[in-house]
Amino acid sequence: MANWVKITNIDEIPFMGSRKILIKDKEIAVFKTKDNSIFAVNNECPHKQGNLSEGLVHENQVTCPLHNWDIDLKTGEAQGNDCGCTKTYESKIEKDILYIAI
Ligand code: FES
Repeated sequence: MANWVKITNIDEIPFMGSRKILIKDKEIAVFKTKDNSIFAVNNECPHKQGNLSEGLVHENQVTCPLHNWDIDLKTGEAQGNDCGCTKTYESKIEKDILYIAI
């Protein structure tokens, strides 16, 4: 059964940006995309552990700041010819408060 953890008001997550949160020693990057969708993934690129929270958000992807891999925020998978996957987390919003399933 999912363990929902209260994160923050969704207004605290920058549009087309992200916030880094720490839950039980796990760094999670929470993103808000152009259509105001919210995604949560491990803050670790599957290539060489770049901080995805510092990447550039576009469509439903983030470009890693270290070597420019594009990571799909829905699936956590690297795009194009790159291979690898970062863990994703289910999220929900209730009364403007974001929760993530850990
Ligand atoms: S660490 Fe992310 S692309 Fe290399």
